[in-house]
Amino acid sequence: MSARIAVIPGDGIGREVVAEASRVLQAIGGLALEPFPWSADHYLKTGITIPAGGYDTLRSFDAILVGALGDPRVPDNRHARDILLGTRFELDLYVNYRPVRLVDDRLCPLKNRTRRDINFVVFRENTEGLYVGAGGRMRPDTDEEIAIQEEVNTYRGVHRIVRYAFDFAVGQGIQKVCMADKSNAMTHGHALWQRVFKELAPQYPTIEATHLYIDALAMLLVQSPDQFEVIVTNNLFGDIITDIGGALQGGLGMAASGNIHPGRTSMFEPVHGSAPPLAGKNIANPIGAILSAALMLDSLGRAEDARRVERAVEEAVHAGETTRDIGGSLGTREAGTAILKRLS
Ligand SMILES: NC(=O)c1ccc[n+]([C@@H]2O[C@H](COP(=O)([O-])OP(=O)(O)OC[C@H]3O[C@@H](n4cnc5c(N)ncnc54)[C@H](O)[C@@H]3O)[C@@H](O)[C@H]2O)c1
Repeated sequence: MSARIAVIPGDGIGREVVAEASRVLQAIGGLALEPFPWSADHYLKTGITIPAGGYDTLRSFDAILVGALGDPRVPDNRHARDILLGTRFELDLYVNYRPVRLVDDRLCPLKNRTRRDINFVVFRENTEGLYVGAGGRMRPDTDEEIAIQEEVNTYRGVHRIVRYAFDFAVGQGIQKVCMADKSNAMTHGHALWQRVFKELAPQYPTIEATHLYIDALAMLLVQSPDQFEVIVTNNLFGDIITDIGGALQGGLGMAASGNIHPGRTSMFEPVHGSAPPLAGKNIANPIGAILSAALMLDSLGRAEDARRVERAVEEAVHAGETTRDIGGSLGTREAGTAILKRLS
């Protein structure tokens, strides 16, 4: 039976890159793709971000593929909050899995670094932290304004993401796990991260467990990315450092991600946003979306198909048949075709 995939192209370049990822998935076969219109356009037309029962609808699928959400016509980003953050929270997709892997040496912006140096995974906690929306504004839009945004860290939440990172490392035969926080300054919330890490690390005697403050990690990702294998961190820090990760891979257009709850419906999306200046011009790089579709195939137990997609991407990149952001001269659609052609 075909796996059922909910597809939410969303806004801006999300629509263009998801169209290419969908073509790749159709070529792979054994998947029934069902599109959903939830986006800024849909919200502006109907006043609905995600309809009543929308999260339950998503739960009934085997996986979800998303493009990007964000549109300047919705300045408070309400629709993105409901559709994207809402799905992460409501479906309890606590693992944000972001592999950082250089596909071709020439794409790395660092001097003398090769594919061997840039190959690590970031696990970002995806349901807590500063993104839960706790806080408020007093006397908004006055000189007396006070704005508070609170960070939520729970023992259960920190424990399950750190445990997932260790288990992943063991499962993949990886030796090193680095936890990054800011416990020197954020002495309450991040003391909890310290406690959990110290509690779990001894349970994984084959793993070299290290800790870095997030600012030091940001520096080292540029200076010596080769030392990292698995990084685990909170929601905000993971969001920021995976943009550094995107740059190390050749640009945000190359970066893929999965929002995962093991054993349940998970959601896959490129790391990049809707990039309004690029939208509708057939110039966005579809590779981040296509590699996200490969992560989805992996999660559906179709590892061989996932590797086929990754190999097709690598071959197209090596041949220079790509969009301009990574040195090619093709449009989004044509870059998708270059990958499709290598699948068969
Ligand atoms: N997961 C998401 O849906 C998500 C993530 C980040 C930002 N956003 C939203 O997207 C909108 C734009 O945000 P932003 O400009 O900060 O980030 P962005 O990722 O959309 O774009 C930043 C820049 O990265 C480059 N880029 C990104 N994707 C690319 C691609 N596929 N091909 C080539 N170049 C690419 C472009 O130069 C672009 O201007 C905002 O509304 C923001 O809230 C959504």
